[in-house]
Amino acid sequence: MGRELPVVAIDGPVGSGKTTVARLAAKRLGYVLVDTGALYRCLALAARHRGLSWEDGDKLGKLASSLRISFEEGDAGQKVLLDGDEVTREIREPDISQGASKVSVHKAVREALLNTQRDLGREGGVVMEGRDIGTVVFPDAEVKIFVAASAEIRAERRYNELIAMGEDVCLEETLREVKQRDQRDENRAVAPLKPATDAVILDTGPLSIEQVVNRVIDLVNDFLGARQPEP
Ligand code: DC
Repeated sequence: MGRELPVVAIDGPVGSGKTTVARLAAKRLGYVLVDTGALYRCLALAARHRGLSWEDGDKLGKLASSLRISFEEGDAGQKVLLDGDEVTREIREPDISQGASKVSVHKAVREALLNTQRDLGREGGVVMEGRDIGTVVFPDAEVKIFVAASAEIRAERRYNELIAMGEDVCLEETLREVKQRDQRDENRAVAPLKPATDAVILDTGPLSIEQVVNRVIDLVNDFLGARQPEP
């Protein structure tokens, strides 16, 4: 017996718009939103607090298993709590973004966070966004989307986001960082960033975010419609 409600897997590279797409789609569907990047970000932050290297896969794997990470709906969007403390903003700082990408290459880390992610989505009725949701975490997800956009467009979005957060950044440096993270995410040995063979690829260059969200909702409705018994 399959799930009543689907797991909607939304994968894509940094700055593709997947986070916004996932948030809006979850809201319209009334589904739970799970930002899996936040798990890797929390791990990078926790390691930093403990003076643990982002290269030490074994220790990071153990740390990942012991962290308590939770999400809470707030007025200004979803809040992320790490061991009870709010870290929503801290985990978005450029340094922690690089750290998240670094800690995510380790097999022990990915294994430790795999069960956490599967537990969060098991019942369905969830929009889960990340890099490997449709390929590794939920290869049986009922709806799989890969959100794409060129590196230049993604860097510009990321730059505007960081400026809005009051960070002192330049566009060239942001583009370099986006490319560096792509390189690492796409080439790591374990669960590299790539579209699942059965994912629908949606490009937020030519398509507006709203068009992409509408397409996600259509795909979910197609799934739910196909589930209805014949009258
Ligand atoms: O989506 P994000 O930018 O918040 O993710 C931060 C980092 O975490 C990203 O560089 C790669 C890693 N990540 C991952 O490896 N697998 C996921 N499912 C989600 C994120």
